[in-house]
Amino acid sequence: MLKYVIHGGEPLNGKVLISGAKNAAVGILPATLLVKGTCRIENVPDISDIRLLLQILDEMGADIRRLGANTLEIDCTHVRDSVAPVELVRRIRASYYLIGAQLGRFGHATVALPGGCNFGPRPIDQHIKGFEAIGANVELVSGCIVAKAPETGLQGARVNLDVVSVGATMNIMIGAVLANGTTWIENAAKEPHIVDLANFLNAMGAKVYGAGTDVIRVRGVKSLHGGFYSIIPDQIEAGTYMAAAAAVGGDVLVQNVIPKHMECITAKLREMGVEVTEYEDAIRVVRTGPLRRANVKTMPYPGFPTDMQSQVAVCMALAEGISIITEGIYDTRFRYCAELNRMGASIQVDTKVAVIDGVKQLHGCAVKACDLRAGAAMVIAGLAADGTTTVEDVHFIERGYECMIEKLRALGADISRLEVPDQHPDVSEAG
Ligand code: EPU
Repeated sequence: MLKYVIHGGEPLNGKVLISGAKNAAVGILPATLLVKGTCRIENVPDISDIRLLLQILDEMGADIRRLGANTLEIDCTHVRDSVAPVELVRRIRASYYLIGAQLGRFGHATVALPGGCNFGPRPIDQHIKGFEAIGANVELVSGCIVAKAPETGLQGARVNLDVVSVGATMNIMIGAVLANGTTWIENAAKEPHIVDLANFLNAMGAKVYGAGTDVIRVRGVKSLHGGFYSIIPDQIEAGTYMAAAAAVGGDVLVQNVIPKHMECITAKLREMGVEVTEYEDAIRVVRTGPLRRANVKTMPYPGFPTDMQSQVAVCMALAEGISIITEGIYDTRFRYCAELNRMGASIQVDTKVAVIDGVKQLHGCAVKACDLRAGAAMVIAGLAADGTTTVEDVHFIERGYECMIEKLRALGADISRLEVPDQHPDVSEAG
């Protein structure tokens, strides 16, 4: 088992460089299956979710070359028409993008149902609705999604999503790129990574219009060609370091960000009394005074992201007064609050609402990372707390944060990574 040991209480000062966006990369890598030719992709985060997806593509016959820590060349020209490796697929939520990619490339797909962080039920009915709308027959066979296009191929159609879903929007886009005719995705998600996937596909010859609005139009093309693409910076990683600077205090320049993507996080931190200055591709966060209370409701983009809920909760746990968080995306995403309470926070949770009564100080103790973002919140809490905090199950954190230890140490944090003998291996997954 891996754990982080944190000696907290010191402010964060300096610069941190943000990596490429995980949730864009996890869509773009499977989408390379559609391309005949080499995709050179820059700014790919070196995190365990990406290493897992690369292993899946490799087992399917992709030719993958690493040109540096964050640059890859992927050529799927000779990929085999096969079942995606079940054991690997089940370990990552984003493997659902292999359904759209295999369906588009081969006209059929067999992909095990994906895993994922436990935030309550996470159905993929909207993905299936989209594939069926463009003509696929989709069945669940022995724990696998089996999708088949008709003899005449997938046919563009209008898909109106019943819920705003990042995964369904991206998956239908991937599935429709090589279909006959035009597909409209209505009530589409608008997250920055949706636009990034569309830009990647267009760079390889696709015709995707309107990404970033709630209607996306995909005009089918006969084939995609190789090309070059650079993934956008990770909105949530940037937000995590912003929240860390706010909760712990100090002066941090978060570099390689798109400030527009950060607006709702920037606004919330300012409301809480944090000084946030936007530059062209960087954001400076300074906090010297006390934090003020605030309320937040998580929503699809451009609303406040659910993936930033736990990090901002740490700021609220240390703010003056009572703050309220309402979770608007998932049924349950507050499991980490019990861990924060162990550190001295005062949080009461009722299903989708957390009421946070700010305290003056958190105190170090042993806590667990319940999932990827909850794990990041525990690290922030440990940095803000007095004494020593140990965070267990940090494999969750390493699925989505590149070099977190190194980046925090460069900001002056006292944090180290320990490998200890595994007594109770936790096989649940993230994403
Ligand atoms: N939903 C359905 N049916 C569907 C799909 C979604 O009912 O077919 C519901 C979900 O249950 C949820 C809501 O719609 O209540 C939104 O789910 P969405 O499909 O947008 O989420 P996702 O694609 O499963 C991605 C990210 C998550 C992030 C959400 C929301 C990946 C691999 N995961 O999940 O990221 O929380 O979008 O922005 O891209 C993370 O990075 O820590 C993470 C969990």
